[in-house]
Amino acid sequence: MKSIEVRAGRQRYEVLIGSGLLPGIGLIVRQLFRGSRCAVVTDGNVAPLYGEVVCASLREANFQPQLIIVPPGESSKSLDQAGALCDEFGAAGLDRSSFLVSLGGGVVSDLAGFVASIYLRGIPYVSLPTTLLAQVDSCIGGKTGVNSSAGKNLIGTFFHPALVVADLETLQTLPGRIWNEGFAEVIKHGVIRDAGLFHMVAQASSLQPMDDASPPQRDESVQPASWKLALPSFIARNLRIKAEIVAADEKEKNDLRALLNFGHTIGHAIEHAAGYGELLHGEAISLGMVASAQVSVRRAGLSVAEADAIKSALQSHHLPTALPPNFPRAKIFAALARDKKFENGRIRFVVVHEIGRASVSHDVTLEDLEAAVAEL
Ligand SMILES: NC(=O)c1ccc[n+]([C@@H]2O[C@H](COP(=O)([O-])OP(=O)(O)OC[C@H]3O[C@@H](n4cnc5c(N)ncnc54)[C@H](O)[C@@H]3O)[C@@H](O)[C@H]2O)c1
Ligand SMILES: [Zn+2]
Repeated sequence: MKSIEVRAGRQRYEVLIGSGLLPGIGLIVRQLFRGSRCAVVTDGNVAPLYGEVVCASLREANFQPQLIIVPPGESSKSLDQAGALCDEFGAAGLDRSSFLVSLGGGVVSDLAGFVASIYLRGIPYVSLPTTLLAQVDSCIGGKTGVNSSAGKNLIGTFFHPALVVADLETLQTLPGRIWNEGFAEVIKHGVIRDAGLFHMVAQASSLQPMDDASPPQRDESVQPASWKLALPSFIARNLRIKAEIVAADEKEKNDLRALLNFGHTIGHAIEHAAGYGELLHGEAISLGMVASAQVSVRRAGLSVAEADAIKSALQSHHLPTALPPNFPRAKIFAALARDKKFENGRIRFVVVHEIGRASVSHDVTLEDLEAAVAEL
């Protein structure tokens, strides 16, 4: 088992990464909390797979868990769903000595983390990420939130989990499309901060990508055993990149944490334009990164060869790099124009100078973004 410490302000929390951790989660959590009541928030896909193993382990450690299931997918990241959860916690008798467990991907932890931060003005939560995307990225950093009609993640808080436990066994049940999606954030980490990581994932042979027909666990020839062995350090490498940035700039006060938004300004606009749930977050970010690489060629001296390498790396993980012809592009432009990061016609925008080195540019204009989206 690997362990990473995340520091944010005066807070510190641990991420445990290993195989088969969920059946023992009760005892791990018992070291943190004395109370007995807790809610396990999960979604309708994850509940039948891991809901009972987590609840049984919590019961064994003398907790009284209440399993609460939300519908799967991005549309659960809403204020309505957050309000409904608060009502359910009240009905379940959760008080200030209680805590939450979020069991699922980034949607569940963004939502559950948000509700943990507002219910009774904040009760602690433990995060059990079950997607690759959540294990390499969203499980740390403290950004929680829901979407509003105006855009992605516009309502939220900074609220860190008390503990994160990433059980690699859970990745075995991921459908191929959701496994692939995680590589968008991995490629992002490589592009902004770690050229070695980028080149490792760019070579599809070292980390076998999945197509939808072959989920990771069912075909050892598609996902060799060596890849499984490499997973803990691979996940840790990603989390260390994010943890280092978060420790230095937790609330995005300077430009450092903003680097994690590479591909996200355009990606979020695409996600919003498609309608939440149509494109997975990682798929929209893949498109956003292709467009942002084009902006970087124009504004930051990124070579065309490296922009192409970013595109090929995404393609080798079956991520989209072009918009479908009938995509409502006008909606992307409208969402971009509304972006609050624009000031006097310019936007704070993450550009890449070379793979592994990015910065925030203040020279990018709406026209630059529109030109890059038009090329997508
Ligand atoms: N807070 C952050 O720092 C941060 C960072 C990156 C992304 N995000 C957010 O994360 C979300 C995307 O995360 P995601 O892709 O994990 O979304 P998700 O939670 O919707 O999971 C994707 C799908 O996989 C299913 N699933 C989850 N675990 C499974 C498992 N082990 N086996 C089988 N199916 C499983 C889910 O039911 C869902 O249908 C977006 O809302 C994005 O904005 C947040
Ligand atoms: Zn993201």
